[in-house]
Amino acid sequence: VPPPPTEAFWHWQRQFSQHTQPFILLAEAQPAWLSVALLPFVLLFVGWAIVVAAGGVILWQRKQRQNADQRAWYYQHARLNTLGEITAGIVHEINQPLTAVQTWIQGAQRQVRQDNPAAVAQALGSALVQTQRISALLTRFREHVTQEAVTLEAVDLAECWRHVGNLLEHERTASPVRLTHDFAADARTLCADRLWLEQVLHNLLSNAIQAQQERAAGWVHIRSHREGERIHIAITDGGPGFTPEALHNAFMPFYSGREGGTGLGMTLTESLVTRMNGTLALDNAPEGGARIRLQFAHHGGQVNG
Ligand SMILES: Nc1ncnc2c1ncn2[C@@H]1O[C@H](COP(=O)(O)OP(=O)(O)OP(=O)(O)O)[C@@H](O)[C@H]1O
Ligand SMILES: [Mg+2]
Repeated sequence: VPPPPTEAFWHWQRQFSQHTQPFILLAEAQPAWLSVALLPFVLLFVGWAIVVAAGGVILWQRKQRQNADQRAWYYQHARLNTLGEITAGIVHEINQPLTAVQTWIQGAQRQVRQDNPAAVAQALGSALVQTQRISALLTRFREHVTQEAVTLEAVDLAECWRHVGNLLEHERTASPVRLTHDFAADARTLCADRLWLEQVLHNLLSNAIQAQQERAAGWVHIRSHREGERIHIAITDGGPGFTPEALHNAFMPFYSGREGGTGLGMTLTESLVTRMNGTLALDNAPEGGARIRLQFAHHGGQVNG
């Protein structure tokens, strides 16, 4: 027979239906709360609270120290004076055409030994184009130093892209990387500075080529379309795309995610785009590969020269 219900604080019972002798196992307790010693529990609780709080403070202090170190590191790099930045910029921009000049001249020497005057003339012509570029870049940097205002004019996007493709011919064929384009008929002429736009495209294309050095067959695609008074440009490539870290830091001076990179290409690119009243956004295409989106004002006029 089950026992009558009790007023116990906790109660447990179970019935065992043995056929010889069914029985009920029952346990219950009614603690005398007033006589319980609370002090050890309170002390234990307070002790743990102190340990947890102390741990929290130590972790918080460590995080603060790390943040301070990071800030100091950042300012150390960001505090480069204007001259330093410009010098670094010149080195960055001149280095590539200078290497190309050397390569073309070496090629010309080889062709002289093989008595092939046509190829010599062609190699020297290419070297000349690169030296003209160096000269134009230096002139532009001098203007940058003297803070002369830049005049934005009608620039042919397709023409700039073709020129930059030629300038990077060596790098492209070494990798190899195929260039394709799709410029909408009404989205070719934009409001920019020709040399600056070329520098922007040059930096973006060389990054895309460098990102695909490990690939057997790389590609870079550029397309443009017009929306109202804005020209939208997207450059996509067949590389691995930006890492989350690169997406976050790409515009930071001296951030580089690759061996031997200076980390100035994107910084310069962003500053040039902004000075031409354009915008620049980075992400990865849904099918993988980096995607750089640019916007510039459309120019209704004719391209000069
Ligand atoms: N097309 C791309 N695909 C994948 N990662 C890219 C691409 N473009 C840039 N990145 C990443 O962004 C980083 C920053 O680019 P940035 O051009 O500023 O520097 P860099 O190419 O490393 O050096 P520098 O251009 O000064 O020689 C690169 O190191 C790379 O990790
Ligand atoms: Mg670069």
